[in-house]
Amino acid sequence: MNLIMKMLAVPAIVLALGGCGQKAEPPVSKTASDAIAQRLDPVGKVCVQGEECKGMAVAATAGGGGGAKTPDAIIAKHCNACHGTGLLGAPKIGDTAAWKDRADHQGGLDGILAKAITGINSMPPKGTCADCSDDELKGAIKKMSGL
Ligand code: HEC
Repeated sequence: MNLIMKMLAVPAIVLALGGCGQKAEPPVSKTASDAIAQRLDPVGKVCVQGEECKGMAVAATAGGGGGAKTPDAIIAKHCNACHGTGLLGAPKIGDTAAWKDRADHQGGLDGILAKAITGINSMPPKGTCADCSDDELKGAIKKMSGL
């Protein structure tokens, strides 16, 4: 008796699971299966979008071919050489006090931005990022200084 019940129950469970997994539309529970499909679809799309975004972010950092440059990318490529270690007396990344002292004496963030654009002493014009816009330089300065 018991064994027969089990033998009947197992195929029934397999059928039920199979119906959901394959997103088939068993005529009995069409609406239920549709609802599950709807709940599953966004997950699939988010995954695919996430992968696309990852790829695009990598391309933007690596190529820079006309796309917007992030502050991190500019700093890593151009500013870090000197500002990472304080080479030639450059204010160090993260040393907000040193940056603030400069900003306070030179008209704030825009003041030191102006100096960064023209260059000052050992600081080369635009910090060697010749194709950086003023806004992009400003973003890098903000990030390095924490101001
Ligand atoms: C070749 C080394 C070098 C590189 C590369 C460099 N800097 Fe500098 N930077 C300096 C030095 C040295 C100073 C300090 C100059 C001084 O006051 O004598 C300085 C100062 C500055 C200042 C403060 C200017 C002021 O008015 O006091 C800013 C802002 C700045 N750098 C931004 C940048 C940015 C943004 C980058 C990257 C795009 C960058 N620097 C790349 C060496 C460098």
